[in-house]
Amino acid sequence: MTIINRAPFPLTRMRRLRNHAFLRELVQEHQVLITDLAYPMFITEAKAPEPIVTMPGTSRIPLSQLKEEVGKIVDLGIRLIALFPAAQSEKSKDAKAAYDPEGLIQRAIRLIKQSYPDLGVMTDGALDPYTLTGQDGLTDEKGRILNDETLEVLVLQGLSHAKAGSDIFAPSDMMDGRMGVLRKALESAGYPDMVLLAYAAKYASSFYGPFRDAVGSALHLGKSSKATYQMNPANSDEALHEVALDLQEGADMVMIKPGLPYLDILFRVKTTFQVPTVVYQVSGEYAMIKAASLAGALDERAAVMETLLAFKRAGADIIITYFAKEIAQWLKH
Ligand code: PBG
Repeated sequence: MTIINRAPFPLTRMRRLRNHAFLRELVQEHQVLITDLAYPMFITEAKAPEPIVTMPGTSRIPLSQLKEEVGKIVDLGIRLIALFPAAQSEKSKDAKAAYDPEGLIQRAIRLIKQSYPDLGVMTDGALDPYTLTGQDGLTDEKGRILNDETLEVLVLQGLSHAKAGSDIFAPSDMMDGRMGVLRKALESAGYPDMVLLAYAAKYASSFYGPFRDAVGSALHLGKSSKATYQMNPANSDEALHEVALDLQEGADMVMIKPGLPYLDILFRVKTTFQVPTVVYQVSGEYAMIKAASLAGALDERAAVMETLLAFKRAGADIIITYFAKEIAQWLKH
């Protein structure tokens, strides 16, 4: 049979550009860079580091070792850390330790900024490490979460973090109207450059379990849920509404959380608003990949890098991940 009579061959062979490593790398659409990452750290008032059992490879860091620990992070090239306090002794009904200038987190911020002024420091806006209930807000006698009363404490917390030197205040409590009151308060108190990162679409997720162990709110929270303020995992349009409000109220960046199970939300938010968008690969996502890798079921490095590319593809500008230190090392080699 002559060539002329043969059925027409495909003009396009997609495999052509996959045949050599150099071609695959040249046509690759997304890259993961060290400047995409933020590393979350847990600070403890204890004397020695406390390994977090549900998150193998992570520990709560005591203030006495913070400088040394953060030094390692800076040396790895990581540009932003997110601080969370495990403040066991500071809990009360009115959560007043949240804005104590001598509180654990306020001291941690000052200590880090003294030694590493160029490292970005982001701090959490929420009352759950400080309430007796483990809830992110103040509660009434019936256990209802009080929105507007919580905002008053949240503003004091934000101002105390700004005063201590935090660069980015990131309210994760999902109270209504928080961005607006915080922005106004920061402007009038002389902190016009404080960046506000809204946990805009934060879902009531089962993937926060290990984090609640890490900060010590799990026991206090017990079986109660955060469903009256965090979002219903069944909803997607609502996330766009949340983001729109936070941006109108003065947020500089918005966050989607958790990460991998909510890639569709990340994609919709990024394509709709085109603002700096952050994704949080949360504690449960970390725990899953770690457990599977330790069991020999997954190649940890390959699996983690694949999740990061998924976040970049979906539109993430910043990825908060407990793997950041490992990733930094992998990116160097
Ligand atoms: C609390 C807070 C949570 C996380 C960040 N800030 C947990 C929660 O809402 O109960 C979760 C982070 C993670 O799971 O890694 N305001």
